Amino acid sequence: MAGNAVGLGNFLRFPVQAVQNGGGAFMIPYLVSFLLMGIPLLWIEWATGRFGGRFGNHSTPFILHELDPKRAIWKYIGVFGIFTNIAVAAYYCYLESWTLSYVWHSIQGTFVGKSAAEVAGFFGDYVGLTDPTEPVLFWLLCLVLNTWILSRGLSGGVEKVAKIGMPLLILFGAFLAYQGITLKAGENGALFDGTVGLNFLWTPDYSTIWTPKVWLAAAGQIFFTLSVGMGSIQCYASYVKRRDDIALNAMSAGWMNEFVEVVLGGSILIPIAIGYLGIDRVVELTQSGGLGLGFKTLPYLFTQWGPTMGMFAGIAWFGLLFFAGITSSLAMGTPVMAFLQDEFGWKRNPAAWAFGAVILVFGAPTVLYFNEGVFDEYDYWAGTVSLVVFALLEVILFAWVFGMDKGWEEINHGADLRIPRVYRFIIKYVTPVILLGVFLGSLPAIYEKLTLPASPYVVGARLLLLALYLGIAWAVYLAYQKRRKATIR
Ligand code: PHE
Repeated sequence: MAGNAVGLGNFLRFPVQAVQNGGGAFMIPYLVSFLLMGIPLLWIEWATGRFGGRFGNHSTPFILHELDPKRAIWKYIGVFGIFTNIAVAAYYCYLESWTLSYVWHSIQGTFVGKSAAEVAGFFGDYVGLTDPTEPVLFWLLCLVLNTWILSRGLSGGVEKVAKIGMPLLILFGAFLAYQGITLKAGENGALFDGTVGLNFLWTPDYSTIWTPKVWLAAAGQIFFTLSVGMGSIQCYASYVKRRDDIALNAMSAGWMNEFVEVVLGGSILIPIAIGYLGIDRVVELTQSGGLGLGFKTLPYLFTQWGPTMGMFAGIAWFGLLFFAGITSSLAMGTPVMAFLQDEFGWKRNPAAWAFGAVILVFGAPTVLYFNEGVFDEYDYWAGTVSLVVFALLEVILFAWVFGMDKGWEEINHGADLRIPRVYRFIIKYVTPVILLGVFLGSLPAIYEKLTLPASPYVVGARLLLLALYLGIAWAVYLAYQKRRKATIR
């Protein structure tokens, strides 16, 4: 579960979201979102997942159906839990492939002797497909690697990767965070101490506390990083035994993720980039194609640390990103595979390759039209808006339809931890109300985005995502018909 949650979101997306939304101004909505939405949602999703697993359901369409079998609608809301995983995996896999390529180039010493502008330019050329060979090859390699590990199953493939990847990631992260925190102005060409970036992040700023856009970004980041509102946690939790603890495990995984995000993730990219470039320049760099920040800046900054240290830092940073990324992208494959296996009786192998094929089709536009904004468009709709919508509907289902009495018992069954009772109140009233507020508050921005003139690429991306949702809904419909026939017989 920690491998699932800890991902590129922690090291790349979090710093960029924080910078884009004013640093200290972002952190208050962010931490409130964690306590009042993230934690409750973790419990809800672990509980619904384990509950659904008891009836042999491992993906959200029929997990949600199990919570309220009388209403047909929940299956189609559960479609979100497959849709998001596919749509996020589609662009995530490309992002992940950059990390592989950059590990390779760090070893090769590609960035040594290049100016800052040249290193940034390297990234521009890369995603701009000046020479498409390498980006496409690394992307395909990454896709095949993911698919192959998925085809080896949860315990034979995914868990093995997590067991090696997670400790390494923490080790590399601690090394880089130390470098970030102790960065000194004047040494190796740094303009500012590492503390300048840290202060930017950690000086509270209340000016945006009523800005819906910041709240949408903060809540969206919390959901993205914890993998909630996605159908991913439910899938993993559906394999937990009924008498096993979920209350404490959900907390260990969730707090572990936050440690990696705010302590490690917050002490690398922001202090190092700001230390060398200053706040204004870093803010400017995140304005477009934000997720590239760690690729545009850090390789150059590392070369300032000397050849050996620089190479080691490059391998540590991009290697860390790769391990964080792969344990998450694997998690996105499991609900999709589970759906095919549960409903259509597919074997593991074909299910994994089917997932790979879908990611190939939906990922290709993010590779080919990165600069046209397709990648960011996917991240906005599937990586932010969908999560809030799905989370909101899920809380309502859990707390109000399934009911808080049964719900509380589900969460606490087998618990190794006493959950403060105030969370019963929070789950029932506070979480849905804030979620509703965030959702309604961001409607104007969503409306504006939809009505603003958009390029054919962006419109195409939206239509593709819509088609994906409808396609999955259709598969759910077929699965339901199949189930009904089976029970009549
Ligand atoms: N939580 C992961 C991250 O921070 C992303 C993720 C999304 C993982 C959906 C699994 C499912 O990068």
